[in-house]
Amino acid sequence: MIKKNNLYYPSEEIKKDAHINSEETYKEGEENPVAFWEKAANDVIWREKWDESFSHTPPYFKWFLGGKINITESFLDVHKESDKTAIIFCPNSPEEEERKISYRELYREVNRFANALKKMGVGKGDPVGIYLPMIPEMVFALLACARIGAMHTVVFSAFSPSALKVRLQDTQAKVLITTDGYNRAAEVIDLKKNVDEGIKETSIEKVILVKRGGNEINFTEKDVWWHDIVEGESDDCPAEMMDSEDPLFILYTSGSTGKPKGVLHTCGGYTVQAKATGKWIFDLKEDDVFWSTADAGWITGHTYTIYSPLLNGATTVIFEGVPNWPEKDRFAEIIEKHKVTIFYTAPTAIRLFKMQIGEIERSLESLRILGSVGEPIDEDAWEWYYREIGKGKCPVVDTWWQTETGGILISSLPGVGPFKPTFTGRTLPGLKFDIYNAEGKSVSANEEGDLVILPPFSPGMLRGVYKNDEKYRKTYFSEFGENIYYTSDTAYRDEEGLIRIVGRADDVIKVAGHRLSTGEMENVVAKNESVAECAVVGIKDDIRGEVPIVFAVIVGNKKAEEVTEEIKKVLMDDIGPIAMVKSIYIVEDLPKTRSGKIMRRIMKKLFTGEELGDLSTLANPESVELLKNVIKRDI
Ligand code: WT7
Repeated sequence: MIKKNNLYYPSEEIKKDAHINSEETYKEGEENPVAFWEKAANDVIWREKWDESFSHTPPYFKWFLGGKINITESFLDVHKESDKTAIIFCPNSPEEEERKISYRELYREVNRFANALKKMGVGKGDPVGIYLPMIPEMVFALLACARIGAMHTVVFSAFSPSALKVRLQDTQAKVLITTDGYNRAAEVIDLKKNVDEGIKETSIEKVILVKRGGNEINFTEKDVWWHDIVEGESDDCPAEMMDSEDPLFILYTSGSTGKPKGVLHTCGGYTVQAKATGKWIFDLKEDDVFWSTADAGWITGHTYTIYSPLLNGATTVIFEGVPNWPEKDRFAEIIEKHKVTIFYTAPTAIRLFKMQIGEIERSLESLRILGSVGEPIDEDAWEWYYREIGKGKCPVVDTWWQTETGGILISSLPGVGPFKPTFTGRTLPGLKFDIYNAEGKSVSANEEGDLVILPPFSPGMLRGVYKNDEKYRKTYFSEFGENIYYTSDTAYRDEEGLIRIVGRADDVIKVAGHRLSTGEMENVVAKNESVAECAVVGIKDDIRGEVPIVFAVIVGNKKAEEVTEEIKKVLMDDIGPIAMVKSIYIVEDLPKTRSGKIMRRIMKKLFTGEELGDLSTLANPESVELLKNVIKRDI
């Protein structure tokens, strides 16, 4: 890479072979975004070509209308005779043998399972729950659903039974695919136990179990083994022909308040965008070994651990374990062993490696592109990633996107640049972004505002919130009217037009790159009868980026320690380990405005050391002093 002032540019060598290496592509995208995306659409397989490229009746939009497609055809059928490795599966334990699955085998595994699902009565448009760790069956299950046109709904395997239940109740899925259990680092996770609890009061009629943990389970009349139902099934299963705008999957994500939202993605646009973005941003080619460390429980896992590398005919690495177990440099061992060429992870992981390892002793020569995702990356972590992992030769693509956008929409491209630490970079060609002030006017360079997306948006963006149209309209298309997609992120642009994400404008926090809603956490904490009032805020953390802390005012006779334990437990039970709080403060009062609004902003500032501002408008300014005394021990 070449450094000019504080910007990095790709070397001639990187540029030479990159799919996109000039401004020409940006120009094309700017002149006619719809035509630009049409060209990208011609890069995937359609059974029938679309007759209208884009239609827009605000706040709804559609892409490639009338087209017929099945996402799996673009890689399963294309490579069905190929012995090239599609998936490298690295199990949790380095003692267990790794497994390489060729495209030929992938075709067979997916089709056999797809046929078994069909036999069970699952068909086009049916929701199917998937609650699995990162094992090959996670990929087979997802793709089998897509093959027969059923909507997959993955629930992150570290989510609790209650979190599973809420999602299953919303989709009303009848079938759940899961496992008896699995190992994570040195722990055995009894996933089946969670399932037995989580499917109560849901419509689940059948539970398909992958044998993995080998732990003892309570086998019920709803349960069937994966290996039993695929037995004797045919290796061929015709791909269900889907309308471009038919649903492909639902994935739940945390919103501002209340229950998680079921973000709905459709077949045509998502396929096009998943393929194109992988090609442009990661410069994916068939001989690449791509490792996105994201679990398929999150959107990054859907798009970049599974669909995009397969659509681009590359090899994707699936890792069941933990990147720093049993050795601190386990992730580097995997890169070295499998000659990973593109590595994609979250800043939290980078900070952890930097802290735990410092200098890497393994050869990471195979790497050519590095990616970062999910939360802002700080300069130190960027530099370390660039120098220590990338040896100063790999472009670092800092990719911005959301569950809702389905794929990356902001990132400088490896063959063009420029890259600037802490800046996510340029918007992709073919897209129109802006940054607005409260009046909906573009702000000038270096001024913060709301990041928005303008029509024609992108083909892979969400088409709705499952069974909740109002939420779709309100969350994304009301802040600046029905024509403008509101991202909920605050951002600014530098003089070159590079975008820097400042953070969320709503009450979503990013904990180790995972999306959590403090509003949702407050609802959970408030369920405790001793809690009269509570507030959850995210504060900065050196490794995890942000972590939640709880302030609670309690009533009744219970001791503070007891309530604290109960709060921890209810968060764990209702959400899962990602909702682990850093501290719980039992306080006498929460700072409020005269109209009774809890001032979370002030509580946050107590931790950052920022000026608190004018407290005289508070109804209870003295509460701030009391808070200071309580938290003193931690700051
Ligand atoms: C939110 C979306 C991106 C897919 C995985 C997360 C934050 C995402 C970046 C980045 C700074 C980022 C935003 C966004 N975010 N990427 N490169 N730099 N912030 O998807 O869980 O739906 O979260 O993650 O705040 O709105 P998600």
